[in-house]
This record gives sequence, structure tokens and C-alpha cells, in this order.
Amino acid sequence: MSISQPHGGTLVNRINFSYDVTGTDKAIELDAFALSDLELLAIGAFSPLSGFLSQEDYNSVVHSMRLADGTVWSIPITLPVTEETASQLAPGDTAKLVYEGDVYGVIEVRELYTPDKEVEAQNVYGTTELAHPGVKKLWERPAVYVAGPITLVKRPEKNRFKEFYLDPAQTRAEFEKRKWKTVVGFQTRNPVHRAHEYIQKTALEIVDGLFLNPLVGETKADDIPADIRMESYQVLLNHYYPSDRVFLAVFPAAMRYAGPREAIFHAMVRKNYGCTHFIVGRDHAGVGNYYGTYDAQLIFSNFTLEELGITPLFFEHSFYCMKCGNMASAKTCPHGSEDHLHLSGTKVREMLGRGEAPPPEFSRPEVVEVLIRGMKVAVGKA
Ligand code: ADX
Repeated sequence: MSISQPHGGTLVNRINFSYDVTGTDKAIELDAFALSDLELLAIGAFSPLSGFLSQEDYNSVVHSMRLADGTVWSIPITLPVTEETASQLAPGDTAKLVYEGDVYGVIEVRELYTPDKEVEAQNVYGTTELAHPGVKKLWERPAVYVAGPITLVKRPEKNRFKEFYLDPAQTRAEFEKRKWKTVVGFQTRNPVHRAHEYIQKTALEIVDGLFLNPLVGETKADDIPADIRMESYQVLLNHYYPSDRVFLAVFPAAMRYAGPREAIFHAMVRKNYGCTHFIVGRDHAGVGNYYGTYDAQLIFSNFTLEELGITPLFFEHSFYCMKCGNMASAKTCPHGSEDHLHLSGTKVREMLGRGEAPPPEFSRPEVVEVLIRGMKVAVGKA
């Protein structure tokens, strides 16, 4: 028996490398965002979805965080196309899914519909402000959504961290091989600093294994690039984690910055990868001041544990306390904020960019070294 059931009960597999696309003359141009959604759909990371959302499912997700059949699903997975492309498509067509000249998949077109993006922005991101990177992206993408089941016919190329790309079926097999009955998933789009390490290890005290699953798809320009982060994760794990209790693999998804709704989505996806537990800390998947510090935890109370099928583990804002001499949170530390080490993400990125090391109480020196070196190379390239 597998350690956790996929969302909806069955792990979707929509991969068919022998699919013959030659008879298909219609084509849809994908952006990098849609290409990553295509792959994630095909490998079952988005189970029970087997394609881009129908209008009925879309409306239901936008308004009530559920698919039309009631299954919990909080982020619309859609395929936007231009009006011109849409005018050449009709329900019943099969269209190739093309990225930079290569065919990666096909979609059986079931429906074409025009979403109300104001409503989508307000409900999914909690704002219609274009300053929000998720909302900006939503408006930048074309106006019509194509719905229907997909098939992946070619795998997108992987970068130099190939061995860390594992499909949900593979991570599940790995967890079983390791005889982990309970696995906690950790989402991140940042380097793992001491606060992250603290909540991961606190969780690890009560479960068998930690699945470190950094998001490596599209992120906003000022987030630290994925390849630099990947190197830093490996260095950190080598120095500070027991190798038989932690497993690192990437989550090749785009970041939505949808805060609370994305926390639910992240949890459902990690359930598909085989996790039984999922960490939600402060301002999970947040950006700027759009969400309250614990909104991404509160949103879980809209659902029963049974329908989620994965147990969220909530963590308070963590920091290093100089007086305690250790990592702590308001739940465990009696001292005032003057004794706590607080550095914002922006501040840390600025420091790293200048080649300046944040204190070891904030980030492990081995990690900082990789980040400073990586940022130098990144700046050199830019
Ligand atoms: S996220 O966009 O992927 O959520 P980040 O990589 O910073 O951003 O966070 C990864 C996870 O760690 C999230 O669950 C987040 O809530 C949590 N987290 C980040 N920093 C802290 C902190 N100082 N204290 C508690 N939880 C934190």
C-alpha cells in the first residue's frame, strides 16, 4: 500500500512519447508557464486534473476552491490563447502544444471560453492590483482559455540538475523504498535559511522523512535563481541533515504568489508526490503585504482533514534569539524583538549581491558562500 493516496484517488499519467502528432495541423503556442503546467498535469502532480480546466471547473475553482465535483482545488490551471488562435480552434479539434518550435503535447479541445480576469484576480490573488506579480502575469497572458485533456509527447529539457527531477510516481517509490510512513513536504522558492531549517527539523522530529521540494519554475525576477538555490540546498544537506531522513527533488512549477490559495494548492500537489504532511509557515507563497502573516494557515479551516488528505503543519514566524542562543518563535521565546534577529528577504538579497555575508545565526556560512558566489556569476551574466 502506498503511504498516501493521490488527490482524487488515482495518480494521473498523461505521457505518451509514441503519440503521432503528424496528422494534427492545428497548433497552440505555449509560454514557459503553460509548458510547465502541461508537464505537471502529465506526470500526475496535478492529479486529479488530466487537462486544462473546463469552464465549469474553472468557475467552481475561482468561486469556491473546489472542482465542480466538490474535490478541493484552489488554483485555476488554464491554457490562455490569443483571440486569433481561438478563432482557428473549435471543440472536437486536437491541437499540438508548441514551445519555441518544438511540439511537447497535444490537447483535445473540449471548450473555449473567455474568463473574467477581474474576478479571477480578486478571488485567487485577493487583489486586482497590477503591482502583484501573479495578477500582472494573469493580465499579460492572452484572453481566451482552451479546455480539454492533454497528452505529453516530449519531455521539456532539463538543466544541469537533472537527477533532481522526479515524477510523483518516482518520489512515491523512493519514500516506500526508504520505508517512510510519514513524509513532510517543504515548499520553497528561497535558499534554506536557519528559520526554514528550524521548522523543517522541528517537523522532522515527528515524521519519518522530509521531502525538500523547492519550486524551480518561473519566479519573479528578484527571487534568487533556481540553479544557485539548488547548489545551496545540496551543500546545506551535506553538512547539516541526516541523509537517510531527507530527500531533495525539484517542483518544476511556476510561482503564482497567490498566498493562501497557493498554500492549499502546494499541499495538494505534495500529497500527489507522496507526502502525508505539509509545512505552512509565515506568509506562505506571499508577496509584498498582500496577505496577513497567517492567512495561508487560516484558509485550511475551510476544509476537513479528510477531504484535504494531507495534514498541514503550521509554524509561527521563527527567528534566532540572541538571549535564548537558539532558533525560536513567539511560542517558545520570552524575549523582546530587540533580541531577535530579523532580516527581510530584500535586505538579504541586497547583502548577498554586495558580497556581504548575513550572520551565521541567519544563514549557514556554507550556504552563504554558495549564494554569494552564485550571485556574482548571475550579475556577471546579466
Ligand atoms: S514560499 O513563497 O515558497 O512560501 P519561502 O521559500 O520563503 O517562500 O517559504 C517556504 C516555507 O517556509 C513557507 O511555508 C513559509 O511560510 C515558511 N517560512 C519562511 N520563512 C519563515 C520564518 N521566518 N518563520 C516561519 N516560517 C517561515
